[in-house]
Amino acid sequence: PTSVSTVSDLLSIDRSLDVRVDGWIKNVRRSAAVRFLDISDGSCRAPLQAVVDKHVFNGLPGVGAQFGAAVSLKGTWTPRAKPETAQPGEPATFELSVKEMEILGDSNAASYPIQRKYATPESLRRIPHLRMRTPLNNNMLRIRSDVMGILSQFMEEQKFQQTHTPIVTTSDCEGAGETFRVEAGTPKDPFSKKPQYLTVSSQLHLEALAQALGNVWTLSPTFRAEKSDTSRHLSEFYMLEAELSFVDDMDEVMDFIQKLLGAVVGGLQQRSAWKELDDLRLHPKNPDEQQTVADLDSRDILQRRWNGLLHTARWPRITYTKAIELLQEKGAGFEFPPTWGKGLQSEHERYLAETIGYDQASNSYLPVFITHYPREIKAFYMRQSQANPTQGPVFDCFDLIVPGLGELAGGSMREHRHHFLLENLGPEHRSGEGVLDWYEDLRRWGCPPHGGFGIGFDRLLSYLTGVKSIRDTVPFPRLYGHMHP
Ligand code: 4AD
Ligand code: MG
Repeated sequence: PTSVSTVSDLLSIDRSLDVRVDGWIKNVRRSAAVRFLDISDGSCRAPLQAVVDKHVFNGLPGVGAQFGAAVSLKGTWTPRAKPETAQPGEPATFELSVKEMEILGDSNAASYPIQRKYATPESLRRIPHLRMRTPLNNNMLRIRSDVMGILSQFMEEQKFQQTHTPIVTTSDCEGAGETFRVEAGTPKDPFSKKPQYLTVSSQLHLEALAQALGNVWTLSPTFRAEKSDTSRHLSEFYMLEAELSFVDDMDEVMDFIQKLLGAVVGGLQQRSAWKELDDLRLHPKNPDEQQTVADLDSRDILQRRWNGLLHTARWPRITYTKAIELLQEKGAGFEFPPTWGKGLQSEHERYLAETIGYDQASNSYLPVFITHYPREIKAFYMRQSQANPTQGPVFDCFDLIVPGLGELAGGSMREHRHHFLLENLGPEHRSGEGVLDWYEDLRRWGCPPHGGFGIGFDRLLSYLTGVKSIRDTVPFPRLYGHMHP
């Protein structure tokens, strides 16, 4: 009987006498008597080589088997006869000698927007529904899937409960006014009396869950109507968020992030999609694969990043106040002067990450935690700190910054004391529309010290893989002016 196999499974064995493979034609080459086809099915980067008799190939119905068509092939998988020029010891190559071939979905190679030649990332972004068929985009999506698997496994081992938080909410967690409003119903009969928004962060709901389940996490879509046209921003992005209950010391939260990111790199290094990306970077084989060389960060840079993420000693931690001092010592060279009380610009973050974070001895970029930002530039839910510098009050909070990218994660201790939370919220919120009543309730009944964080999932992928734009880490990027298809 015929066995059905994926390309990846077949490539890992030496012989299969009666096998069926389904996939897409990635290339057609002609010789006098036969046609050589490269077949991919998404299971791995390397295509399978199939050899089809010219008469079988030419006898296919309709427009025939063109580049891009979906086909089903039956035949035998065996080592190919070695050419006479082969060196002794040269590894055998394999091929599917096709006996039967069927077209499952035809294609017109001439009109197909994907061609076997270099296409810029910008041009591929204009066809997001098709670009996942190209080697780099395809590889990225398989790595994306792998990272989700690794995270789920790691969090389960750490005994965190995976939870789901709502996408439609009434609150703006970060208070930055960058929410997408959700409209439903009619003015006479609105779907909801309170204004509804797409969530900017799962955190507030996650805190409620943490007060019942202990340590919790989620990987959720989050939405920000920022008009930032950068390689680090999306309007719809995924965030890995976690809350740690009964934790009083912020160092524990930062330690956890370090352990988590180390586990992601460790896990990826075991996966084939990751090895294929490395191979793609080092040995592009086809014209369209040249894309990777041009559009990926170099392997040297990546090696430093991975070394840094796998570093076992604690990553550097400096306070915001110290960071401002260092930036001021550097003096000139910044477009925005570093000033205590103002947010760090991305040029500041980059400088800090590349200087404090660079460890020559291990040739690594260590991610850097910047802690204790001024209260006036951070969100209401953060815990007021004991560690106030002379310049003004600060929160127990941190950002994790990395070279090239800037902010990869943000987190804090949460203000668990009701009267301090009210202080943070300010008088206008207290007489407000009751949007945060429920969040205050959490402080009324059994709120322990707790803290948590959010890691930009798409940013993490771009940092790990060296894909320069976050827009190429998601299948369908959403950003200002681009929300289709
Ligand atoms: O720093 P942010 O705004 O923090 C929060 O939302 C917290 N409530 C998270 C928490 O503690 N549970 O966002 C967290 C991370 C950032 O560090 C960044 O990596 C990513 O989310 N991020 C974005 N990623 C892509 N596009 C955007 N527009 C992003 N905005 C933030
Ligand atoms: Mg932040």
